[in-house]
Formats: sequence, C-alpha cells, structure tokens
Amino acid sequence: MTRHEQLQTHVAVTSFGELLRQHRLAAGHTQEDLADRAGLSTHGIQKLERGATHPLRDTVQRLIAALQLAGPDEARFKTAARPAPRRHHPARGTASESTRHNLPVQSTPFIGRQRERRALRDLLSRDDVRLVTLTGPGVSGKTRLGLQVAAELIDAFADGLTFVDLAPISDSALVMPTIARTLGVEDVAGRSHVDLLVDVLRRQRPLLVLDKLRAGTRRRDDP
Ligand SMILES: Nc1ncnc2c1ncn2[C@@H]1O[C@H](COP(=O)(O)OP(=O)(O)OP(=O)(O)O)[C@@H](O)[C@H]1O
Ligand SMILES: [Mg+2]
Repeated sequence: MTRHEQLQTHVAVTSFGELLRQHRLAAGHTQEDLADRAGLSTHGIQKLERGATHPLRDTVQRLIAALQLAGPDEARFKTAARPAPRRHHPARGTASESTRHNLPVQSTPFIGRQRERRALRDLLSRDDVRLVTLTGPGVSGKTRLGLQVAAELIDAFADGLTFVDLAPISDSALVMPTIARTLGVEDVAGRSHVDLLVDVLRRQRPLLVLDKLRAGTRRRDDP
C-alpha cells in the first residue's frame, strides 16, 4: 500500500459517516431502527453514512442520544461532525477531489467572456460579498457564465458548490425547500426550511448557484 493509499484509508475510517455506521452496528441497530430512535428519516441516516450530507447540530445531538454515546465516544463523534474549515485561497496544487459539486456537464466549450469571468471571480472571492446577481436579456448567457465561473472556483470553496435549478418552480413557497433539498439538508419536524438553511450556512460557506430565481419568486396566487 502506498503512503497516499494509507492516508486515504485513514481519512475514510475517521469520517463522520463511517463513525456513525460503526456506532450503529455496535449498538445492533438497523438504519431504520436508528432513524426511529433519533426521530430522523432512514434516507437521512443513509445519506449521512454515505457522506453525501453533513449533519446539522440538532441531528448530531439526536444521534448521540439515540446511540447513548458519552465521554470520549461522544467527543469523537462531535469532532467528526464539525465541518471542514473555510478555505478561500487554497495553495496552488491543492487536491480538488475533496470538494463537492453538482454542476451539470456542458457539451460545448465555453467561449470568451474574459472580463466578466474575472470580475465575477474577484467578487466571489471577497469575504464581504455574499450575493452576486447576473441579469441580462433572455438567452444572453447568464446561466452559462455562472456555471463557468463556479467551475473555475471549485477549489476556492471547501464546503462545496451547489447548483440549484429553480426553473421548474412556479411557487415561491417551494424555493427554500428546493434549495434545502438540493443542498442535502434533512427535514426536521417543527423546523422551517429557512431555519434549517440558516443553521447550515452559519457553519458552512458553500457557493450556491441559484438559477431562475426570479421565476421561483412568483407566488402561486400572483396574476
Ligand atoms: N460564453 C459562452 N460560450 C459558449 N456557449 C454559450 C456561452 N454563453 C451562452 N452559451 C450558450 O448559449 C445558450 C444560452 O445561454 P444561457 O442558457 O446561459 O442563457 P441565459 O441568459 O441563462 O438564458 P435565459 O434567460 O433563458 O435563462 C446555451 O446553450 C449556452 O450553452
Ligand atoms: Mg438561464
């Protein structure tokens, strides 16, 4: 086994998902049992164990209680649940496979827009800029430019990069649930999607690319 492979194995063993699976099996629970005990969905447990989603603080507490973890086990579990630190300016050559994204693959090469790309990259790299809106006439290349610049910034967002297509949404009430679902945020009974998103975005800084947000902000009862 090479040194690189050993490191990969070590990272996998200590990931939150793997730790959760180990504790669940040690306690003799199926994913369904644990979901029942913790008041979470089985799908949510599956996603956590796969590492496809990051646990909210509330979820971590529910799992600790359901698995009856205490002392060093509880501390290790909480440490594994912490998100990776924010990384805006990575060193050259930093591995990009550790970042997550769901950007759609483009079947044609991107052409030009050098000035806009540079301006957008600069804006999105600033700590004081939280929202950038691309506006322009229909079919002028807004989506394509956003996706291109997002792809160029993959390494700058350690917490990943999520493209949310709001084009199919025709009711503003579905905007937040759609963003939350695309981000992999689990539903929690009694908590709104806004609260759940705030919880996640307080601890993580993913780049969210929201496409067709205007279409999604129309209320169902608007004329
Ligand atoms: N710089 C570019 N290089 C290559 N293809 C591009 C470029 N800009 C736009 N296109 C292509 O042109 C078409 C329209 O672009 P896009 O969908 O991004 O426009 P839009 O402004 O988002 O449109 P809409 O207003 O309908 O949302 C797409 O097929 C896209 O791939
Ligand atoms: Mg578009």
